[in-house]
Amino acid sequence: MKNAKKLRSAEWFDTPGYYGFSRKAWLRSEGFGRHIFDGKPLIGVCNSWSELNNCNAHLRQVAEAVKRGVWAAGGVPLEFPTISLGEMFLRPTSMLLRNLMAMDVEESVRGYPMDGVVLLCGCDKTTPAQLMGAASADIPAIMVTGGPMLSGQWRDRKIGAGTDGRKLFDLFRQGKLTEEEWCEIEGCIARSAGHCTVMGTASTMASLAEALGMTLPGCAAIPAPDSRRLEIAEHSGRRIVEMVSEDLRPSRILTLAAFRNAVRVDMAIGGSTNAVVHLLAIARRVQVPLTLDDFDRLSRSTPCLVNVKPSGEYLMEEFHAAGGVPAVMRRILPLLDGECLTVTGRSIRENVEQAECWNDAVIRPVENALSAEGGTAILRGNLAPDGAVIKQTAASPHLLRRRGRAYVFENYAEMQRQIDDPGLPVDENSVLVMKNCGPKGAPGFPEWGHIPLPRVLLERGVEDVVRISDARMSGTSFGTVVLHVAPESAVGGPLAAVRTGDEITLDVPARSLHLHVAEDELGRRLAAFEPPPPHYTRGYGKLFLDHVTQANLGCDFDFL
Ligand code: FES
Repeated sequence: MKNAKKLRSAEWFDTPGYYGFSRKAWLRSEGFGRHIFDGKPLIGVCNSWSELNNCNAHLRQVAEAVKRGVWAAGGVPLEFPTISLGEMFLRPTSMLLRNLMAMDVEESVRGYPMDGVVLLCGCDKTTPAQLMGAASADIPAIMVTGGPMLSGQWRDRKIGAGTDGRKLFDLFRQGKLTEEEWCEIEGCIARSAGHCTVMGTASTMASLAEALGMTLPGCAAIPAPDSRRLEIAEHSGRRIVEMVSEDLRPSRILTLAAFRNAVRVDMAIGGSTNAVVHLLAIARRVQVPLTLDDFDRLSRSTPCLVNVKPSGEYLMEEFHAAGGVPAVMRRILPLLDGECLTVTGRSIRENVEQAECWNDAVIRPVENALSAEGGTAILRGNLAPDGAVIKQTAASPHLLRRRGRAYVFENYAEMQRQIDDPGLPVDENSVLVMKNCGPKGAPGFPEWGHIPLPRVLLERGVEDVVRISDARMSGTSFGTVVLHVAPESAVGGPLAAVRTGDEITLDVPARSLHLHVAEDELGRRLAAFEPPPPHYTRGYGKLFLDHVTQANLGCDFDFL
């Protein structure tokens, strides 16, 4: 295949002198014939496969399907690894390493001879990390997400990894499940490779990659073990070769309008709160001025349609069968910018205008939306001058407007020590506050925001209370949980000044989070603030602490 434009990889191979010769010779040492240098585009297959990341454990097979497609279309696939971020296993939190993976992806793409790249991801942070890296490197790129795992099946019940696990754990803590039953659940809640099968962060980010136009239509929801996952991977391999000829780069796809479409889709699917941080970070990589206010403005006028846990009833398998992201996008097409370009080379409108919905209970029609507004609301107030986030569709309606007295945990360890204390002085009106869990404070901005219900409340049958922190929360979690309070307490944000007994008002309809402490008293408390000692004095941890931005800016490094 001859391309009109000189290939990027030719800078490595099509050069006179020793280095052109030696690069060809060294690549041929892998057993390739000389024909691979005959003007064929070299396609990197960026694989985040890892056995330490169960969600991505099937990506070698997906890579083989991609390579079939690349060869068939006249390209040459070259697979390469990056670090992989396994949400369940990485300490202290995979978010600490999202930016490291983004740098790994960017520098691998930038530094190696490739004309286009196929990005293989799945687990929560691997999707935004690859999008961030590919956006910065800006060569033609297409993403193939790994798909959700099979639905869990316990006895006669379908259960979703993440959301149902947490609910069942609360029953176990209350003695309503036996050890034996708990072990049984452990063996059947996650039945295959693939990411969590609720609308958690991984499903959300896969859906938003599709909404941004960075995957082929319909990619996000195909279950990981489904043969159609490999079929779409093969198509993606074919397509990237054409994208190289068209010079279709992320910078042409990732426009402000595309991000606004993604925010709309995020609201319509009841997506994870983590999407806010990740979309902000990806947007900043391409100098797109997306802000927290865009999320709130678009949320107010986008109905939540997707009835999938944790906001709804179903799981990703049913979402896929109902039509997946294309069906959602068709339903909200009047709210989207249909002209946005995608990896297909066509517009969003052209991609989805024929999409069918096969199950109105799973993807509700606009007239019968789960809620008139989107899932995520942005709060502001004297407790969060730079914003905070709540997933209102996963919150208890009676708590969306609530004034209560704070009970403060100074950090996560203190919370863990106290939460099951039978004498903990809290009731159903209390507001649980946890500090030092933000990007610098924890560090790494872990998913600790879903403070468990204190045992004393569980025993009284209380199912939810207002919880506030500067942490994130797993997208699979639920409850009236205010997150991402910015600035965080560890840098002297107002959260650092809250004391047990202070009154706090959460008013989600008014988008307000207010600490009832007089301004001069608040000023005195903050003037006396002393930052906690840094968690790291060397290595990547120090780089992170020195350069990570706050939640409202996406927590990328300030130099990226
Ligand atoms: Fe990987 Fe849930 S643990 S997506």
